[in-house]
Amino acid sequence: MILDPASVPERQAYRLMISAFIPRPIAFVSTVSRDGVDNCAPFSYSMGVSSHPMVLGVSIGDRDALPKDTARNILDTREFVVNLVTEEIAEKMNLASGDFASQVSEFDEAGLSRAPSEVVRPPRIAESPVNFECRLLRAVRVADNTVFFGETLRLHVDDRVLTDGLVDVQKVRAIGRLGGPRYCRTRDVFEMVRPKITGPKAARPTEAR
Ligand SMILES: Cc1cc2nc3c(=O)[nH]c(=O)nc-3n(C[C@H](O)[C@H](O)[C@H](O)COP(=O)(O)O)c2cc1C
Repeated sequence: MILDPASVPERQAYRLMISAFIPRPIAFVSTVSRDGVDNCAPFSYSMGVSSHPMVLGVSIGDRDALPKDTARNILDTREFVVNLVTEEIAEKMNLASGDFASQVSEFDEAGLSRAPSEVVRPPRIAESPVNFECRLLRAVRVADNTVFFGETLRLHVDDRVLTDGLVDVQKVRAIGRLGGPRYCRTRDVFEMVRPKITGPKAARPTEAR
């Protein structure tokens, strides 16, 4: 199949996109509204953008041509926390994705606990072992989505998921999003080392990463 995405209806393009671009990490984003309501919701159009400074990107689509609560809150407060989703909190993450009214806190609806952040107002999700406290760097409009780039001011990692100072994939048990209602675990891990290129085919030192 070769397809011009512009030629298919929006719903089909969405279903194709999320089945084809896999697996996706899930940014479980907590924010606080101007009125002080704590919000959390999952977003799998998310990515790491830069390591130093540590920057994450999260893309949030409009709902009925209006910003979702998370997007509204980030635009209002310029702060958010990205929480990692593990097998243990998968069901709660799914519950938090419901279309709740803005004055309703998904923390309470999903039975998640708030843990205070150090430098931003939105609370962290206490049950999530990895949390990135972010300040908005830039918001970029792409069609009917807004991509939020946030600089991580504090990274919290639960010591129980660390090995030698790094997050241990076997301990943390993160999940990813696939197409439709499907998700994946991250327990089947294999290793590869990047090739060392030398000689005339090697990138110049300034190009190498
Ligand atoms: C695993 C998962 C991933 C999702 N990814 C996205 C996404 O990348 N972008 C988006 O706009 N909505 C995404 N959603 C839907 C939002 O979570 C949903 O619209 C939510 O109600 C938004 O909440 P809010 O209004 O409190 O911000 C996703 C839902 C789930 C369950």
